[in-house]
Amino acid sequence: MKTVIISNRLPVKIIEENNEYTFIPSEGGLATGLGDVYKSGNSIWIGWPGIEVPEERQEEVTQKLAELNLFPVFLTQNEINLYYEGFSNEVLWPVFHYLVTYAHYEQSYWDCYQSVNEKFAKSAMQVLGRKDKIWIQDYQLLLLPGILREKLPNATIGFFQHIPFPSYEIFRLIPWREELLNGLIGADLIGFHTYDDVRHFISTATRLLPVQSSSNVLNSHERQIVVEAFPMGIDFDKFSDLPATEKVKNEINYFRTGKEDMKVILSIDRLDYSKGILERLKAMELLLQHHPEYIGKIELFMIVVPSRDTVPQYSELRDQIDQFVGNLNARYRSMNWIPVNYFYRSFPIEVLSALYSTADICLVTPMRDGMNLVSKEYVASRNRNDGVLILSEMAGASKELTDAVIVNPNNMGDIMEAIVTALKMPLEEQQLRMTAMRAIVEKFNVKHWVNNFILRLNEVKDSQKSLLTKHAVNSINEVIAAKYAKTTDRVLFLDYDGTLVDFTGNIDDASPDDELYDLVENLTIDHANKVVIISGRRHETLEQWFGHLKVDLIAEHGAWQKSYGDKWNSLPLLTDQWKLEIKALLETYTDRTPGSFIEEKSYSLVWHYRKAEEGLGDLRANEIVSHMKILAADKGLQLMPGNKVIEFKNIEVNKGKAALNWLYDKNPDFILALGDDHTDEDIFKVLPDDAFTIKVGNNISEAKYYLNDFKEVRKLLWSLVKEEFVERG
Ligand code: UDP
Ligand code: G6P
Repeated sequence: MKTVIISNRLPVKIIEENNEYTFIPSEGGLATGLGDVYKSGNSIWIGWPGIEVPEERQEEVTQKLAELNLFPVFLTQNEINLYYEGFSNEVLWPVFHYLVTYAHYEQSYWDCYQSVNEKFAKSAMQVLGRKDKIWIQDYQLLLLPGILREKLPNATIGFFQHIPFPSYEIFRLIPWREELLNGLIGADLIGFHTYDDVRHFISTATRLLPVQSSSNVLNSHERQIVVEAFPMGIDFDKFSDLPATEKVKNEINYFRTGKEDMKVILSIDRLDYSKGILERLKAMELLLQHHPEYIGKIELFMIVVPSRDTVPQYSELRDQIDQFVGNLNARYRSMNWIPVNYFYRSFPIEVLSALYSTADICLVTPMRDGMNLVSKEYVASRNRNDGVLILSEMAGASKELTDAVIVNPNNMGDIMEAIVTALKMPLEEQQLRMTAMRAIVEKFNVKHWVNNFILRLNEVKDSQKSLLTKHAVNSINEVIAAKYAKTTDRVLFLDYDGTLVDFTGNIDDASPDDELYDLVENLTIDHANKVVIISGRRHETLEQWFGHLKVDLIAEHGAWQKSYGDKWNSLPLLTDQWKLEIKALLETYTDRTPGSFIEEKSYSLVWHYRKAEEGLGDLRANEIVSHMKILAADKGLQLMPGNKVIEFKNIEVNKGKAALNWLYDKNPDFILALGDDHTDEDIFKVLPDDAFTIKVGNNISEAKYYLNDFKEVRKLLWSLVKEEFVERG
């Protein structure tokens, strides 16, 4: 059993020189973060080797990569243009980083994104063993979890996104939004760097797809998908140990000699408009204007690693940086000093380590960044606990590194002030802040991140399996049917809304359809069956819908009951005196919440908000609960939140008591109870151990089993009726 990591880019890329292929490490947080850990476990990594490889050389590359446990997916130049540069980096990257005006929604990009995700799936199928865990990485492969889920319904699939997940308002701009989300929820566990990303994803998924969430769990068809924050870390020991090595010491000597009094400000990023490079340069210019005392005394060491420079916005940015740096240096330089030492290239890790361990300040000011590992690498390299990290509040890392000097990257004045603060910061304060940050980066290192993710993935899979054993359409259906066939005095307690029929926006539209009537009639034909419809609906409604059938009816959660052929009776001594005051209060919420309304029953009031704006209804429902719960208790009422409703009813009325009342004097040999909301939990709790209790919807319940929806309920009930026919011959 191995772990198969799949990402767009492999942790190494091919460099071609004189027709010779060599591999060098890839840049970027994903590759540097996971690039070492994957080697330690039993893993294989599938991805693109970074250039177009002609067909005749693909075998050679495949063999060389196999020695490193890497497996290539070869992309044609057309795929690189449309899938990688196009959809990934001209649609998803800008939208997910909130730069929506940079997005180009080209149909050809989307078509190719789909086909390349399919291509990755095909490659994965070649190396996947039956029990392997699949761990898909990042935004280039959002469709892959769904594609693999179709091919391997029981596979263990994790997905981690290394960039931010935007708010619903931003995400919904993408023309192919549902398709992308459907792809993602093929995973069992979906990870993001921060809790904000988790929040955004859950609210987006529940608004755009027919899935429900309960805290951080999404319920989609038969599967529970967990969404969680796993802030990625770095190899702390590696960065902390490097400065003591000979190679790094030499590098340090090389560029610090003669500059002992110079204050060095370091910035390292891939070329990217999300990194705030221009804004940082503008802050530097402001500093030189407003604090001329630092001219000749500070130096910005700025490394920009080439990235995606065939995408137009990236090459434009590169030109702008070149221009700005040239202009600034030309204006402020002296014979032996320039303010910005700018490099447009990548460096080996030893050079990076020398810079990290000696720079007085590390300036990390992205406009938006999933995590930002550079900031953590700087912290890990500061073995003397000195140095100041200036960090954008828009980077995921700012949620953990709260002892950095935090800035708003859009506020150039703020960045300038932060640099001055850092330049003046006393050593003791630097040490206090750095010590705290080092403890965090050391503990939440990349191994911790991998272990946490994999552990959680295993847990999610286990809990899915145990849930499956409770799913009443599998083996349990047969057990229920067998007992049904053997028994002669049966009772079936059936809730109505959400159990026998689906929910509708308008409560009166949920009347029974022909198939349901047919089903109930078939159940009642058998004299051994007593069918009890037990609902929160008004008794007049139940009468109108079911009065003509051979069923017993319990309405308003038990306030009213009627045995077949009898009259309706209400519970004795119930009062409705409280309704006037509660209704007046509820009306104040209805007046402020378009789409909501109050339903009045004899002994209860229901505030409905299914048609109110998504989110607003829940907010108001929470307000109602917190404002009115004491008043409700004083009046002897129970306040019950349900599925897009809040109900106030007399405390003595509940479905559990009603079911027990009904069972008084009777001794059935088969009891089946089906219900979907938490008023039905009262029934599940009071029934004897040998009763079959089934919750509709797979969230936590007192019931022994669950079914997914009203369709599965009908299927189960039909199977009982039909088995009977077969049994009887
Ligand atoms: N990096 C690199 N070569 C360089 C400069 C930087 O490999 O010349 C690495 C750096 O060490 C860091 C990564 O690139 O691990 C950048 O990751 P980060 O999360 O900061 O940003 P991303 O590139 O993922 O947006
Ligand atoms: C970020 C993304 C990675 C990507 C890296 C480098 O870290 O999250 O998925 O690999 O940038 O970008 P590139 O386009 O060169 O792979």
